[in-house]
Formats: sequence, structure tokens, C-alpha cells
Amino acid sequence: MEKEEIIIKISKLKQNSIILAHNYQNPEIQDISDYNGDSLQLARIAAELKTYRIIFCGVHFMAESAKILSPEKEVLIPRYDAGCQLADMITLEELKDFKKDYPDAAVVTYVNSSAEIKAESDICCTSSNAVQVVNSLKNKRILFIPDKNLGNYVKSKITDKEIIPWKGYCPTHQKITLADILAARRKYPDAKVMVHPECTMEVINEADFVLSTGGMLKLAKGSEHKEFIIGTEKGMTYRLSKDNPGKLFHDLSPKPVCREMKKIKLVDVLNAFEKNQYRIEVDEEISRKAKKALDAMLDIKQDKN
Ligand code: 13P
Repeated sequence: MEKEEIIIKISKLKQNSIILAHNYQNPEIQDISDYNGDSLQLARIAAELKTYRIIFCGVHFMAESAKILSPEKEVLIPRYDAGCQLADMITLEELKDFKKDYPDAAVVTYVNSSAEIKAESDICCTSSNAVQVVNSLKNKRILFIPDKNLGNYVKSKITDKEIIPWKGYCPTHQKITLADILAARRKYPDAKVMVHPECTMEVINEADFVLSTGGMLKLAKGSEHKEFIIGTEKGMTYRLSKDNPGKLFHDLSPKPVCREMKKIKLVDVLNAFEKNQYRIEVDEEISRKAKKALDAMLDIKQDKN
């Protein structure tokens, strides 16, 4: 079937549904979606939408978070196998043992995690609000899971708490190196460098801005600078270029491609509508506990990122 034909079919089937797409999705998916955004923006939209059915184009934990926040809605993910390697880097047993070692600590869990891990946490965070979330807690000691890079970034911003990061990392962002950033700066000497806080500290320390994907979009739009080097998943330069005609966006490196994010194709979205697949289901008890941690995060007022 031709691309145009699929798009027409999707728009006919779409009534009473909303398509949400993460900023890393394939361009054709971003183009047919109702809302694009970063993890926090999409979680907020999912929680506030009045529509009964959400088609979530992202990876599994994102659709799962939407379902937890709106258990009464039907949440579909067009590819059930679109996962997140970072989310898989801590098991429930490991988290329980970690907590036993530090009984006085609060557990801050990056949304890139499973529902059962969220259910064992005090509060969730995303890359755009992690510092704010940690600052909102009374505890002096914080277990930050599962991303060590985001945890170390938060640690570099907060000095009055002991932050103990878990050892997970995003393999896509881990591919960006200090040598890449130095080479990109030599190639585009006038460009400002934005990187995602899932990058290593070496890379973060060399950047001009450290931002979530939503934060990058906001900064690019409001900035007087015309040229940027982007250190995150490759899909981001599509969104930035589309939203900012006349400005230039270069990939910091060609390496960071998230295969999971790129799994969803137009035909999968059509199949989601036609076959009502794949429904996200979360165990009721786990969902209730995980929702507490997500709600605690959403209750914090959003800051500028
Ligand atoms: P953002 O919340 O910045 O969009 O990040 C999502 C993500 O999973 C990065 O790997």
C-alpha cells in the first residue's frame, strides 16, 4: 500500500482517538500525530486528554505510563516489542536489595522504567524535571534509578544531598563521545551544542546546554542563535528543523539511533486502528502504586525545561 493511501485510511479510522508521538519517532509518524513531545509533555497530555483512545507512538514504558495515568482509557502501542534497554537495566529484586542497603533514602525513578519498578518508588522524574524532583524531597539521601548518567548530572547540580545512582545507562546516548563533540565543534565553529542528560558527564561538561528533547525545541525556538549541534537520538534534528525553518541543526554524531524508537512505521499505526492492537494492560495493584509515583511528579510545577 502506498504511503498516501495509508495516511488517508488512518485519518478515516481516527475518530475519537488521539495519536501521541515522542520526538524520536520516524518523521512520517511525527507528521500524522496529534501531539509530539518529550516524556513529560506526553505524560501530562495523556493524563489530561478527554479522548477515550490513545495510540501511543513511542516505546513501551511511555505507553504504559499513559495507561497508568488514565486507567479508564484504552491505550494502544502499534509495536508491542518497542522496548527500552535502559528500562531493563534494573530488576525488581535488585531495586528491593538496593533499598534495603539504604533504608533512609528516597527512591527517584526515571520514567524510563517498568511499571513494577515505578510501583516500588517514591517519585518519578523525566529528563526535564529530574533536578526539580530531587530538590522537592526532604530526604538527604536519594537512590536515583536506573540511569547513572542522568543521576550523575543531577548530582552535579545538587550539593546538599547524597545522590546514589544505579548503574544503568541508555546505550544510544552512551555512544556519543567527547571526541565526537570536539570534532563537531571544529566542523561547525559557530554552532551551539545541546546534549541530552542521558549522555556521559564527559560529554555534558563540554556542552553549552543540557536539555530534554522538549527543552531543546524550546531553546531553539527562542534563541537568537541560528546553528546548533544536537547530541541525542538522531530523530531529533528532524523535529528541530521542521519547527525552525531558517536555522541549522547538525547531528553531533551519526551513531545514536534508537532502534526501538524507530520500530513503529505507518502501517503499524494503521494495523493498530484496524486490529485494535496492541492494548496496554497493567496489573491493578502495580498500576495503583506506580500512579502514586507518577502523580507525585506531575504535582510538581513544571519549570522552564
Ligand atoms: P525526553 O523526555 O527528553 O524526551 O527523553 C526521552 C528518552 O527516553 C530519552 O532517551
